[in-house]
Amino acid sequence: MNTQGLVNLAKTLVATEKGLLAIDESNPTCNKRFAKLGIPQTEEARRAYRELIVTTPGLGESISGVILYDETIRQRKTDGTPFVKVILDAGIIPGIKVDVGATGMAAHPGEKITEGLDGLRDRLADYARMGARFAKWRAVIAIEDDIPSRGCIEANVHALARYAALCQEAGLVPIVEPEVLMDGAHSLERCFAVTEQVLRAVFDQLYTQRVVLEWMILKPNMVLPGLTSATQAGVEETADATVRCLLQAVPAAVAGIAFLSGGQSAELASARLNAMNVTFRSRAPWALAFSFGRAIQQPALEIWSGHEANIEAAQQALQHRAKCNRAARRGEYDAAMEGGA
Ligand code: G3H
Repeated sequence: MNTQGLVNLAKTLVATEKGLLAIDESNPTCNKRFAKLGIPQTEEARRAYRELIVTTPGLGESISGVILYDETIRQRKTDGTPFVKVILDAGIIPGIKVDVGATGMAAHPGEKITEGLDGLRDRLADYARMGARFAKWRAVIAIEDDIPSRGCIEANVHALARYAALCQEAGLVPIVEPEVLMDGAHSLERCFAVTEQVLRAVFDQLYTQRVVLEWMILKPNMVLPGLTSATQAGVEETADATVRCLLQAVPAAVAGIAFLSGGQSAELASARLNAMNVTFRSRAPWALAFSFGRAIQQPALEIWSGHEANIEAAQQALQHRAKCNRAARRGEYDAAMEGGA
């Protein structure tokens, strides 16, 4: 294995104020989002939408890597050019989501376990041959009065660590994503405590499974009050809580942090990332970057709505969100930037 190559790749993914764009929704998730907008839920519609995204002019100025899905990594532009080539030509690194989704966990009502370890070694080799240079696995942890349970946390972090070790063996940089969900009425403090507990468990297992921290990227949730909590927090408060939580639990050796957006509005995700960088950019041991799905794509998806005539406007919206998040990495995002959206 080219170890320096993995260090460089991991650093490149979070370097120079860029971040990652996740277009790795599974077909059912993508179809659900299409259905809300009346877009046909077909393979061709998903292909056309992903073509719109990967051909967005100037995307490589703000985006370092794109996370693809099994169907998408095999797809091509209308003119026959493989998406992987389009992405590489734009100066962007292709990656792939390799978990096969989260399913209800036996004996743990309300909790989920992410699957996909069976046959993963062979699938990673296939994806590497197709051009993927990094991978992603998402574990989901829900907060309610009596969850998450120890069993759910332990099973999920064990799977994350085994996935990460297999990626590094295959020469791919693993993105390790333990997502503590925003759903619920819990407080900011409870999200902080659960996120810290989960992250400590993640790094304990990564250490046990001999994962090299310099060759990986952590994709955590921001620390936020639950969506239906009566007490919502200000942008600075959430930014401060998020980075303080990470400082408690994430070793400095990790190559970088790339936050998920998790269903926040696009503007709030940018504002919160910006606030983190304003305060901590020069002090945190890792880059504070983004790996957003909805917070970059959603406005573009809504504008496109399946109509060819809307492609250019949708691409402008996508490029705008990518630029806002690039500015947020520098701590230079301003809500006034949204005026021209
Ligand atoms: O696993 C989740 C995606 O990679 C990020 O999506 O930013 O919409 O949460 P999100």
